[in-house]
Amino acid sequence: TYEKFWLAASMLLIVGFILTITYGSVGLGIAMIDDSSPTVDPDNLGEHPGFSDPGVERVGENEYEVHVIAVQFAYFPGEIEVPANSTVTFRLTSEDVIHSFSVVGTNANTMIIPGEVASLTVETEEPGEYGIICSEYCGAGHHDMEGKLVVV
Ligand code: CUA
Repeated sequence: TYEKFWLAASMLLIVGFILTITYGSVGLGIAMIDDSSPTVDPDNLGEHPGFSDPGVERVGENEYEVHVIAVQFAYFPGEIEVPANSTVTFRLTSEDVIHSFSVVGTNANTMIIPGEVASLTVETEEPGEYGIICSEYCGAGHHDMEGKLVVV
């Protein structure tokens, strides 16, 4: 019957679409990348505009950007001081293995992967001190890997 014909025809069309999409992505070498994690060369951080001189930078009215390098078993800089009532974006990368940047007592937490730049934005409110810990096992000194975030 015609019904069966159209059913078969639409199935063929669907299979065709799937093949086109699959072929398109593989054939053209399209890879999904997250633009919040641009790549960086972990062996050449000294040539990176942000990571060559890690630390706090004012980028606007009440807006700050902080480049932090994680390395077994510390953060550089180890102590980060930012003003209260500001928007602070951390740009994080690792020079060696996977670490994390976790601000104790808050939901601010991200993995730090060598070769990638992780971003994390927080709003600071009142002055205070927060511990920063690494929550990804990164080697023998993992438990001692910590930093400090001071909101002034
Ligand atoms: Cu760095 Cu655990």
